[in-house]
Amino acid sequence: MTADHRAGGAVELIPIPGLPEFRAGMDVAAAILEAAELRDGDVVVITSKVFSKTEGRMVAAPADPDERDALRRRLVDEESVRVVARKNRTLITENAYGLVQAAAGVDGSNVAADELALLPLDPDASAATTRAAFAAAGVDVAVVITDTMGRAWRVGQTDVAIGSAGLAVAHSYEGRRDSHGNELIVTEIAVADEIAAAADLVKGKLDGIAAAIVRGLTPRDDGSRAADLVRPGADDLFRLGTDLAVAQGRREAVLTRRSVRAFADEPVDPAQLRAAMAEALTAPAPHHTHPVRFLWLRDRERRVALLDAMGKAWRADLRGDDKTPESIDKRVRRGQILYDAPEIVIPFLVPEGAHTYPDDRRNAAEHTMFTVATGAAVGLLLVALSAREIGSCWIGSTIFAPEVVRDQLGLAPHWEPLGAIAVGYLPQRPDDGSNIPPRAPADPTGLVVEL
Ligand SMILES: Cc1cc2nc3c(=O)[nH]c(=O)nc-3n(C[C@H](O)[C@H](O)[C@H](O)COP(=O)(O)O)c2cc1C
Repeated sequence: MTADHRAGGAVELIPIPGLPEFRAGMDVAAAILEAAELRDGDVVVITSKVFSKTEGRMVAAPADPDERDALRRRLVDEESVRVVARKNRTLITENAYGLVQAAAGVDGSNVAADELALLPLDPDASAATTRAAFAAAGVDVAVVITDTMGRAWRVGQTDVAIGSAGLAVAHSYEGRRDSHGNELIVTEIAVADEIAAAADLVKGKLDGIAAAIVRGLTPRDDGSRAADLVRPGADDLFRLGTDLAVAQGRREAVLTRRSVRAFADEPVDPAQLRAAMAEALTAPAPHHTHPVRFLWLRDRERRVALLDAMGKAWRADLRGDDKTPESIDKRVRRGQILYDAPEIVIPFLVPEGAHTYPDDRRNAAEHTMFTVATGAAVGLLLVALSAREIGSCWIGSTIFAPEVVRDQLGLAPHWEPLGAIAVGYLPQRPDDGSNIPPRAPADPTGLVVEL
């Protein structure tokens, strides 16, 4: 295309009737040259079904509708490298060439009742070969190979270019201004797709016109191919359909959690922390009780006073263990994370509603039951936070200083601290929503026992 391929001149769309029924091994360029008068500068637009036939991509199909359907499903499976979306009978997949469309392009239309068509393996190569054959016959044309596709958000299908040779597939307006001086928002026009769709106006699915000429655009060959119009995975906002994306998010939620011990210097969104705590409180608990309290210690001064008091008690413990002053300092420095974290939440076991038994054994068991229930809620809190891209680390220290904690925070004696959760965003947060990539599940060998 010239730089202003859209401005000015008229464009003609010329159907090419009279093409033969294509079969494996036939010469597409020769058949078109026989049926049409091509001119230098034309774009010859050919439906991909032609190449499915000439390139041996037709598969014999049984007459029985159920068997034909089963074969179709197997072929879709074989042609697909990735499922993008699925709803009822609609399956959107990516094929080996990178094309995303319904049923991997496996098609039963415009073919004999006893066969199914697969897309050409390399439609850009098919376009290049055909263009070269036209050139050998003395005519300099571009070639676009089309397939019919649905679009997300839009009802109906249009033809798009899945193969192309001899024209710039995209026209960039980047940095250009319109006649009012506004920088153009739409910066890249998929010209090859527009040509494909325009040609479809005169090609015909029912009357079997498999090719057309688009005349009046003077193609500029920049070496690009239709494959260049496939959006690379990393730039694709819609790599998965909504349902599959939600399912994957659910599956991976637990695996996004890990202990984060250094945080960004950015306040945590209080609404998000509150929401995560509320979700965590749905953890299972014995006898319909609520054994967990989350104490979100928002007051900086109280936090420092608590940690200082805990540090003092910790040092006293360690001195009693005959540790050297250096080793005591080293140990206590590990508690620094609770000073540094943007937020801390202290989970408490509050065994209100626990049953009382006449014997110690069952009372201890009841206490264990409430302890594990609190642990379950903390586990959920960590996952609820990581699912929101908020990092956390469960620090055990308050368990060793329950009196200090109760004293500092003015809590009743039956409030038992079960650690403290350091909460904050990760130091680097790329804005692509993937700052806590899921890790691999644990190796269950020796850890999961199946009897
Ligand atoms: C009850 C409990 C207490 C913990 N105490 C500490 C702690 O004091 N300091 C610390 O750095 N991590 C602490 N952790 C976190 C573990 O070190 C961490 O879970 C472990 O290293 C595995 O890493 P991951 O959480 O990233 O899978 C504690 C975890 C639990 C469950």
